Amino acid sequence: FTTGALAGKRVVITAGPTREALDPVRYISNHSSGKMGYALARAAQEAGAEVTLISGPVHLPAPDRVTLVSVVSATDMLAAALATLEHCDLFIASAAVADYRPATIAEQKIKKAGDEIQLTLVKNPDIVATIAQHKNRPFTVGFAAETNDVDAYARAKLERKNLDMIIANDVSRQDIGFGADDNAVTLYSKHGSTEFTVMNKALLARQLLAAIAIQLAVL
Ligand code: PMT
Repeated sequence: FTTGALAGKRVVITAGPTREALDPVRYISNHSSGKMGYALARAAQEAGAEVTLISGPVHLPAPDRVTLVSVVSATDMLAAALATLEHCDLFIASAAVADYRPATIAEQKIKKAGDEIQLTLVKNPDIVATIAQHKNRPFTVGFAAETNDVDAYARAKLERKNLDMIIANDVSRQDIGFGADDNAVTLYSKHGSTEFTVMNKALLARQLLAAIAIQLAVL
């Protein structure tokens, strides 16, 4: 991956989980560590891009020479993503965004009472799909985290969310995906698919950006 392959490009990357509050002390979230997104941000910066990293709550140091925008919920992440749209050539959505959030956030701590309680969840906005349908859309790359039928679901998301590319990983495996240092993915575009076998997320990030940069260059 040549230094400068993304020189002059403005790249926005979402990373980590979102947290959807239930009350002042509790939230719904997932196991994303942010490692994949932070590796992509670092690799894009090293390839010469001007990088903004929109990150949910993680325990990782901010990458050098990258603009870090810290957010909590999916709603915050969407607002931060939309704010970058005017200045974005490439948008990569590696965040594990909660699909639903609690319909209401209790102002006070929810007290323990009966043996069961009901939670009502409402759908969150789809960040990457919102970016991809914008009239000044950047080249838009999503991820697909699947536990089964990875190929079919990834191709369906590529179409439905109007993405240029989608990077699918099998998150039923312990050695890759959520929280792991390694990942193995398949990159799909309209033109076909490429497999990347298990490797460190830092190395994978460089290889993925090399493949994305080739597509960007032919546009
Ligand atoms: O953070 P790590 O521990 O390193 O783990 C990496 C990872 C497994 C989180 C990452 O490789 C990954 O797969 N990220 C996408 C997780 C996900 O939410 O996938 P999804 O298939 O549910 O969503 C599809 C795409 O839509 C993703 O690009 C997602 O960012 C985006 N999305 C989803 C819902 C939503 N409301 N808004 C979105 O933008």
